[in-house]
Amino acid sequence: MTEVSRFGVSLDRRLLRDFDRWAGKKGYGNRSEAIRDLIRSALVGEEWKRGEEVVGVIVTVFDHHRRRLTARMTELQHEYFHRIVASQHVHLDHDNCLEVTVVKGKAEEIEELADRLRSLKGVKHCSLSAATTGREIA
Ligand code: NI
Repeated sequence: MTEVSRFGVSLDRRLLRDFDRWAGKKGYGNRSEAIRDLIRSALVGEEWKRGEEVVGVIVTVFDHHRRRLTARMTELQHEYFHRIVASQHVHLDHDNCLEVTVVKGKAEEIEELADRLRSLKGVKHCSLSAATTGREIA
């Protein structure tokens, strides 16, 4: 088990009130849990900036009727095959598809893949969610 350290934080009363309201809405049981999560997400952001191996999820929504789009997306995924861990295709309705792609590699390459997918004509949505391999964060 990891050792726990305690520290005091001085805050403007109004900021603390706003923080408590936010943490309550998010369902945190206490301030420590809320602060821990904020620190972790800041550290994940740092991991992405440092150029280390990161993990992320790319979500795309697109119209599969769009000429050559599916073929272009497949070509792109093959180009980055060594960065793609898994991919799930969902047929949303008659026209639209959603794809969830789990990616792992240098942040720069992952962002490049997301940018290239986003810029394809017919892609209606493309978001990249930054996660962590979990190795750097307690
Ligand atoms: Ni589909």
